[in-house]
Amino acid sequence: MEMVEWTAWVIEALALGFVFLIGIAMAVALVLFVIDRIQTEDAIRRNYPVIGRFRHIFTELGEFFRQYFFAMDREELPFNRAQRDWVKRASDGKGNTVAFGSTRNIGVPGTPLFVNAAFPPLDQQAAKTEPLIIGPGTREPYVAPSIFNLSGMSYGAISKPAVQALSRGCKEAGVWMNTGEGGLSPYHLEGGCDVVFQIGTAKFGVRDEAGNLSDAKLKEVAAHPEVKMFELKLAQGAKPGKGGILPAAKVNKEIAEIRGLNVGQAGISPNRHADASNVDELLDLIGRIRDVTGKPVGIKTVGGAEEPFLDLFEAIARRGVDSAPDFITIDGGEGGTGAAPMPLIDLVGMSIRESLPMISGLRDAAGLKGRIRLIASGKLVNPGDVAWALAAGADFVTSARGFMFSLGCIQALKCNKNTCPTGITTHDKRFQKGLVVEDKWRKVARYAEGIVNEVEIIAHSVGVTEPRQMRRRHVRLVQADGRSISMHLVHPRPEYARRTAAE
Ligand SMILES: Cc1cc2nc3c(=O)[nH]c(=O)nc-3n(C[C@H](O)[C@H](O)[C@H](O)COP(=O)(O)O)c2cc1C
Repeated sequence: MEMVEWTAWVIEALALGFVFLIGIAMAVALVLFVIDRIQTEDAIRRNYPVIGRFRHIFTELGEFFRQYFFAMDREELPFNRAQRDWVKRASDGKGNTVAFGSTRNIGVPGTPLFVNAAFPPLDQQAAKTEPLIIGPGTREPYVAPSIFNLSGMSYGAISKPAVQALSRGCKEAGVWMNTGEGGLSPYHLEGGCDVVFQIGTAKFGVRDEAGNLSDAKLKEVAAHPEVKMFELKLAQGAKPGKGGILPAAKVNKEIAEIRGLNVGQAGISPNRHADASNVDELLDLIGRIRDVTGKPVGIKTVGGAEEPFLDLFEAIARRGVDSAPDFITIDGGEGGTGAAPMPLIDLVGMSIRESLPMISGLRDAAGLKGRIRLIASGKLVNPGDVAWALAAGADFVTSARGFMFSLGCIQALKCNKNTCPTGITTHDKRFQKGLVVEDKWRKVARYAEGIVNEVEIIAHSVGVTEPRQMRRRHVRLVQADGRSISMHLVHPRPEYARRTAAE
């Protein structure tokens, strides 16, 4: 065939193809037009057939466009890009120095500013974290090495490779791993890290046939040398007053076995422990678990008001300090979750920024500072957040989502759907392929080490030699008028605590 003829033939074929495609597109548009006009569910599509569909598409895509192109570094929620990037750089082992100047607007009310020492200790006296004992009166007290540890996320809410990578990373960094309320899986133990076993309201992993707390099961769990402490979960910040929710899609065979559920049956926990309806019953329950296991026992809850804590501390005064929980974990209302109803996630429970100073003040006022350790959580994922919490009165800080970021979480907000694109909160093997344990455990470790290292840098800068020596007077909080006021004046300790502890 001649070259000219051949070219004409190609052009003709292309033209025909084009006309054919236009025809198909018009036919599809016509079908969609009819569907949209007939349907009654969506007013926009009914009134604006076909075109109305773009609204839905753009709304979906907007989420991604905002994150990548439009949102400023400090804008997004729950975590902005600057917070996430810090975790990423720390996890990758890249230097965490930045250039030119801060992108943080330090005029925002509530911003904590650390008070630099006029004469900080010399470099050779750099601040170093000391281990701290929890539950000194128990048969097996726990000497906790790190100020920063992993908060509870159950195997079920998060995937097998996520638990495996966290377990190995926690071991490497010397931090504890909290199991969350889904029981103890072999993957928690795999890395050999210290484990805090959480007892949720459904008592997964330590319940008998009837769903009650079983002493025999408690002993079995306590027999693992890795299990160092037990945490009775009363509430978590994202959903106070509501029990754990494990969506049915996430309950596979193995998880069903560990929890005592049927495959595909949602794991809905009761909204409180049936056997603890007041502070005395709570202290009885704590005492029972401690007697049976011999290990420190604490509670996890959310600050809502002073009264419940005053009641608790009064009951301890009445019954004797031995009856006290060995630790209290305070979760902030800003805490995360695998799944929670929106009104609870948005509006119930105090922020850790307010509840921690309040509760640490009440604890100290009750003379229980050395007896009950305080653990704080709630968006404390960067060094400045952790240092603030220590200065406000926490003995330890834990994080869940900070560690999720170290595993590669992109804040897709799909933890409740079994479609997490990074494999962290899904049991779909297709997505789990992306989470390579061999690579991720190192990132987990580097993140925890990076936090501790930079909290020590802040401690050194304010002039103390151990991060827990930071006090409220070492932090100033920016006020609405732009001035900053020392945290010990914004959150004064109760009278007794002021006489016994330096501000
Ligand atoms: C996916 C996911 C699962 C969680 N599961 C539990 C749980 O089983 N028990 C619990 O007490 N808290 C659970 N939490 C709450 C965290 O332990 C933590 O208290 C809260 O997220 C605040 O810490 P963060 O802001 O560093 O994430 C979960 C959080 C997330 C994100």
